[in-house]
Amino acid sequence: MRYRILFGMILAGFLGAALAADKIETVAETCNGCHGANGVSENPSVPSISGQHEFYLKKTLLDWKRGVRHSDTMESMIKDYSEAQIAELAAFYAIKPWTPVAQKVDPKLVALGREASRRCAGCHGVTGASHDGETPKLNGQWAEYVEMDALKFREGNVPVSDQRMIKAVKKMSVEELKAIAAYYASQGN
Ligand code: HEC
Ligand code: HEC
Repeated sequence: MRYRILFGMILAGFLGAALAADKIETVAETCNGCHGANGVSENPSVPSISGQHEFYLKKTLLDWKRGVRHSDTMESMIKDYSEAQIAELAAFYAIKPWTPVAQKVDPKLVALGREASRRCAGCHGVTGASHDGETPKLNGQWAEYVEMDALKFREGNVPVSDQRMIKAVKKMSVEELKAIAAYYASQGN
């Protein structure tokens, strides 16, 4: 798994120089080096981005570019891209189908998570398939990634920008967040 990320990083550096003139499909090949073919990830620590809401994709990438959200991997990389390219990338991925990934989850955790996720359903939807265009889809997203990201909002040790999310997640225990991640991971379209 780690090698994939390393490979992507090398690829990202390699293609960086030619960025400005590249077509969006070519730029996206760099992204797919980590995010998987067509943006459907095969790596539990890297989120699928294909079919995610355009608003959320764009906001997240801009948050990193402006340094108001933290990611070891994405933050420095996205600085090489212009705001226009970021908008184009968000639109490019958003029109693709959202593809929940099949993954192993513990049925007991899933049952716990289903209960606990009631606190999240108002925004993320009952199965995580949010339809408001703003809240990220979580159904069939990698459990490992969702848990890790939810903890970032809960612990507040790195910059995150959404105050409502911080409030919602702070009410939950670490165990509940792990269970919710497993529940969403088990959900299809
Ligand atoms: C070197 C590997 C790598 C490359 C290349 C890469 N990403 Fe990422 N990306 C990641 C990882 C790892 C995460 C999770 C990081 C985190 O949240 O800290 C991530 C997260 C994201 C997210 C957040 C998704 C969500 O659900 O919150 C978006 C959007 C994204 N990347 C888009 C892109 C785009 C567009 C490109 C190409 C310009 C790209 N990435 C290139 C590794 C990569
Ligand atoms: C008031 C609406 C709201 C509630 C309630 C809410 N969320 Fe969120 N959530 C959001 C928004 C909006 C974002 C995007 C935040 C951003 O742009 O930084 C988000 C982002 C996330 C992310 C990051 C997704 C990704 O792809 O990186 C996770 C994980 C998450 N929420 C989990 C939860 C969990 C678990 C709960 C319940 C305990 C919850 N949320 C409750 C609105 C909400």
